[in-house]
Parts: sequence; C-alpha cells; structure tokens
Amino acid sequence: MSRKILIANWKSNPESLKKAQELFKSTALISKKYKKFDVVVCPPSPFLLLKNLLKIKSIKLGAQDVGENTEGAFTGKYTSGMLASLGADYVIIGHSENRALGEGNQSVSIKINLTLKSKLIPVLCIGEKVRDDNGDYLSFIKSEILESLADVSKTNIKNIIIAYEPIWAVGKGATRVATSEEFTEIKIFIRKVLSDAYGSSIAEAVHVIYGGSVNSQNALSFMKDGDAFGLLVGRDSLNAKKLEEILKVIN
Ligand code: PGA
Repeated sequence: MSRKILIANWKSNPESLKKAQELFKSTALISKKYKKFDVVVCPPSPFLLLKNLLKIKSIKLGAQDVGENTEGAFTGKYTSGMLASLGADYVIIGHSENRALGEGNQSVSIKINLTLKSKLIPVLCIGEKVRDDNGDYLSFIKSEILESLADVSKTNIKNIIIAYEPIWAVGKGATRVATSEEFTEIKIFIRKVLSDAYGSSIAEAVHVIYGGSVNSQNALSFMKDGDAFGLLVGRDSLNAKKLEEILKVIN
C-alpha cells in the first residue's frame, strides 16, 4: 500500500451489464494515464467478474460489502474468500448507506476480520450524522472506530484503511461538502484514538482517506491541504470524464 488511492464506489449503478462494461473500459483507460494512483473500482457485486472477463489490468478491484460468514448456507451472501478468488484487493465495509439500513459496529468488525483473513484490504467507513457544537460527534466517531475494530488483532490494524465520510456530506442529500480543515481535524482525532488503543506506531501506519461529494473542485484540497492518503468517490466515479478531472487535479 504505497501508492495513493482513488476508490470509485459505483454503489447500485449502472443498471445494465453493457453499461458496466463501458464504464470499466473507460475507467481503465483513464487510470493508465495516472500511474501515481491506484484506481480501485468497486462495482456492484454482479459486475465484479468483469475485470477478469475484460482482462483489465490498470485498475484494482474492490467490493462494496461482504458477508459476515464463511462459505455455507447463507442465501444471498458472499464471502471474502470469494472476493479474493475474483482478484479483489479491497472491500468497503460499514458504508453509511448500509449502516442506515441497520448494520452495526459488531457486524462491521466481523466483516473486517474475515476480509483481513482473506488478505484483502478493508476500507472502514466512519462518520457522524451531524456536527454539534459540544463535540458529541467526536465521541460518536471514537466508539465507531473502537467497536468496528473490536475483533481485529493489534498486528492487523495497520492493514486497514479508514475512510472518513461524514454522512452530511455524502450523496445527493449532502447538505454541504466538508472542508480540508474538517478532514484534518478528524484525521488527527482518528490517530489519537488509535494511538491510545494500539500505540503510536500503529496509529501512524493507518491510512486515512476522505469521501463525501468529492469532485474536481474540492479533490486537491483534501489531498494537499488535508494530506489524505486518497479519496472515495461516489457520484463522480460514474462518469469517466469527471473521474479523469479529479485524477488530473490531484496528479
Ligand atoms: P458521493 O458518495 O461522492 O456521491 O458523495 C461517496 C460515498 O458514499 O462513498
């Protein structure tokens, strides 16, 4: 994990196999031009196999979620081992859209552990719903981190990426975009929480990225002023031109 990353979270898009193929191909072409970054495409699970089928080498593959189980009688679920065998490198875990549907920190923790066992990199999403003036959002984030890592052994913590995605800045319903100062504040806070729990060398080794309404206007501020290890991009990853604009400015 040395190159900085740009994670494209396609969420539940696009609607057809044909469109997914087109988006894979155009994203792959663009990422060839920006070798400083690992571009990680996280398509919906039915399209994960496309990277292999289309013989695409220039992007990394990620999943948007994983089951809490290993192989067995779990209808509708898929395992981290299956993702690994498809050539995935990353798994987004605990995205706020899944947490809104009831996913809790305990489930997130189980998924992170299984993902690590399959030698994939978990991208743990954390973030508060609202920013209050008395700092309650910090205690919320602290418990989100510690509870999400409860099952993870100390030696494995450094193999996790933490994505700070404030819920108020994510998706179409975003009230505003976070600032690089807000990202920096949380990044320092994340390292403090990790340092108190696991020691400073582990805390420093964990990469922190930003997600939530990232576009070509704000991407550079998070990477440069906020010194983010990378970005998690939703809407603007569905349009190859917009994704290229982001890569161009941060390159
Ligand atoms: P957005 O989504 O870029 O559309 O806000 C980001 C995310 O939810 O990962």
